[in-house]
Amino acid sequence: MGKKHIVTSALLYANGPIHIGHIAGAYFPADIYVRFLRLNNEDVAFICGSDEHGAAITLQAKKLGLTPKEIIDKYHNQNKKTFAEFGIDFSIYHRTSEKIHHETAKEFFTSLEKNNLFEVKTTEQYFDDSINQFLADRYIEGECPKCGYQHAYGDQCEKCGSALSPNELINPKSTISGNKPVLKKTKHWYLPMAKHEKWLAKWIDEGVINDSKYHDTKTWKTQVLGQCKSWINSGLKSRAITRDLEWGVKVPLENSEGKVLYVWFDAPIGYISATKAWAKLNNKKWEDYWKSRDTELVHFIGKDNIVFHCIIFPIILRLKKNYILPKNVPANEFLNLEGNKLSTSKNWAIWLHEYLIDFKDQQDSLRYALCASAPENKDTDFTWKEFQARNNNELVSILGNFVNRVVVLTNKYWGGEVPVVDITNEYDEQILSILKKSPTKIAKSIKKFRFREALTEMMNLARIGNKYLADCEPWKVIKSDEKRAKTILNISLQITASLSIVSEPFLPFTSKKLKDILNLTKLKWTDAGVK
Ligand code: MF3
Ligand code: ZN
Repeated sequence: MGKKHIVTSALLYANGPIHIGHIAGAYFPADIYVRFLRLNNEDVAFICGSDEHGAAITLQAKKLGLTPKEIIDKYHNQNKKTFAEFGIDFSIYHRTSEKIHHETAKEFFTSLEKNNLFEVKTTEQYFDDSINQFLADRYIEGECPKCGYQHAYGDQCEKCGSALSPNELINPKSTISGNKPVLKKTKHWYLPMAKHEKWLAKWIDEGVINDSKYHDTKTWKTQVLGQCKSWINSGLKSRAITRDLEWGVKVPLENSEGKVLYVWFDAPIGYISATKAWAKLNNKKWEDYWKSRDTELVHFIGKDNIVFHCIIFPIILRLKKNYILPKNVPANEFLNLEGNKLSTSKNWAIWLHEYLIDFKDQQDSLRYALCASAPENKDTDFTWKEFQARNNNELVSILGNFVNRVVVLTNKYWGGEVPVVDITNEYDEQILSILKKSPTKIAKSIKKFRFREALTEMMNLARIGNKYLADCEPWKVIKSDEKRAKTILNISLQITASLSIVSEPFLPFTSKKLKDILNLTKLKWTDAGVK
């Protein structure tokens, strides 16, 4: 069995449209990586879809006076369409409300439960008498014990970022009724995470489990390793993986009415159910992807999802046996907008479907700007001014200008035919040598998940092309030495052809246009830089 790849992008809550923060964090980078792999003829399943359970959905539904189903149907379809319009080329855009997902998640739960891998505990949890319902963490608000913020949620303070549990909140209130909730006994299933600290620590630190090397930790981002280590060092507490809610995957046990699986238990399993659905449609075996050590699993996520992908889900996968663990989790930091945190509730965002109304057919301008200032290692800021500058001074002036000049010259002097090379001089050889090395350089950065660096390298090739044209002035040379002019144009066309390939991961629409102009089809990455 040959090498395979599973690349996942965080399953998106289907409770609202997509904004630039989502796409810069977990979707464009994944698409760049996948397009690169596909150009190298690698076998890839690119998995994504809607995360349709959890309080994020039910809260939003309540707010809008709709049912969860009405919300998720609307946004699932809208978001699927938006992703496609931006060229995000998922193998499948699945959903966690599908039957295959409920079955898969239940099967995970049942098999772990049968093997006694959970703790079952009855504890007191907040209950809202006025609506006769236990309150999910997100339905409880109160003062943060760490920073004093008044509107911290039961699971997390959005101000200082601390992870919380509801009973740590000072003056808790139900966000549904505004009432003070009461404590009431309830039974739940817990994942005893402390038991897994030891192997996790070694896996995170060294990429090693049972003396077998799984990955090179040097390839992981420092901030991802840092977060994981800090979780592990502060001691992993047991985490409830069931909830008292109506909406979600029902707990598959007797006498557990009114209980569902915790959304962070079922959602990552959604990657597996989606792979099953995709495999079925494409005549593949899903197990070849999830249960073979020849497969590289890579999760693209935002930094708030690190603990789930690097600690909790790996524990679940390992308990279930025979599943692979991620080879890398290149989580991104956050993107801000004009100096402020993106916020769906405060409507501070650029919505992707609205962008396309203002900037029709300009997906690549946004892809370019978001990749160029992607929050790869620290939070970054999106501003319209920078967007404009990136577009005008880089995309148009450097790449657009070069390609345009080459095409115009070729059409004007040689009727669109590729002119043949006569004798090359030292400068030509130097350019050809740079051209030859460029795809390897770009590839190296992409393989390290350094997409900004890769994009800069790609643009450098266009910069070199521009300089070559400016230095050689074929439009003047043609008057006295047509052979020389032909050589210059031939080399410029080779650069353009290369650009049409190496730009594809970042700028798929531009790349397609270039290939159409040059009449190139079905090129592989390794065709770039060679005659
Ligand atoms: N919906 C979650 C979020 O937006 C991400 C889920 S990722 C998965 O934070 F692994 F659970 F699918
Ligand atoms: Zn706080």
